Amino acid sequence: MVAGAGFLSASTSTAAPENGTATATAVSVSDLTVRLIQRKLLDGISVGFGEKRITAIVGPTGCGKTTLLRSVNRMHDHTLNMSVDGSIVVNGMDVYGRDVNVRDLRRHVGMLFQRANPFPQSIEDNISIAPRAHGMIARGGDSRVVEQRLTEVGLWDAVKDRLHASPFTLSGGQQQLLCLARALALEPDVLLLDEPTSALDPATTEHIEDLLRSLRSTMTILIVTHNLGQAMRLSEDVVFLMAGKLVETAPTDKFFHAAEDERSRQYVSGRIG
Ligand SMILES: Nc1ncnc2c1ncn2[C@@H]1O[C@H](COP(=O)(O)OP(=O)(O)OP(=O)(O)O)[C@@H](O)[C@H]1O
Ligand SMILES: [Mg+2]
Repeated sequence: MVAGAGFLSASTSTAAPENGTATATAVSVSDLTVRLIQRKLLDGISVGFGEKRITAIVGPTGCGKTTLLRSVNRMHDHTLNMSVDGSIVVNGMDVYGRDVNVRDLRRHVGMLFQRANPFPQSIEDNISIAPRAHGMIARGGDSRVVEQRLTEVGLWDAVKDRLHASPFTLSGGQQQLLCLARALALEPDVLLLDEPTSALDPATTEHIEDLLRSLRSTMTILIVTHNLGQAMRLSEDVVFLMAGKLVETAPTDKFFHAAEDERSRQYVSGRIG
């Protein structure tokens, strides 16, 4: 199946979380195993991510959180000796299906990395190039999109007088905000965030958390975080990994106050990880 416009219109399956309310599943991961040569980085992960919800992916360092996130938009495709087995379905589409167009997939599944990675073009181009390439900006509409997205992430005032400058003249935190604005400019259905605020100050972190809450009505968000306070504040569900395996997935309140697995309770109390 071709992953084009169908990403938006494909039907979703439903899942019933433990709090009893049925919710659609936007990202369905089944028996996902990622190997580096023979070593399993992820081992038989099956989990569903609720549509238009924020799910926090947590676990000790090296447990496979980034590997899981990168699997969802096929970032392992060109990693030497890495193999991916199992399936990931995003809004009804098989991500690893033979005919999937990865460029279209990434239009619908955006990603923000732990370290900012602006394109080596101007600040303005970082926002407008991809939507223009996908035909999402009407002729002459670039500056409106650029201002809207930079305003949304709180960067507009800091950069409005130097839109043609290199993004590498920005601070590390500002570069991360620029990358978030760039991801949002494609209006993704699913947003993958890998420790997005680990390099940001508390005020900017709060601003981003508010923004993510406001985005929840329009997109599904998967966020990797080591900050359990952030997971509590922001997410509705938690996915907990250890050593490449899924330990537990639960509504956030349950995970932090009445997790079923002893290892989850130890992690929450700071005794592991
Ligand atoms: N390209 C790679 N080459 C070698 N090992 C890798 C590669 N990618 C991931 N790994 C290994 O896979 C395991 C999982 O890594 P991953 O980055 O997914 O962990 P993580 O949970 O995101 O950790 P952290 O919290 O430190 O970011 C680690 O042992 C890591 O060293
Ligand atoms: Mg990581």
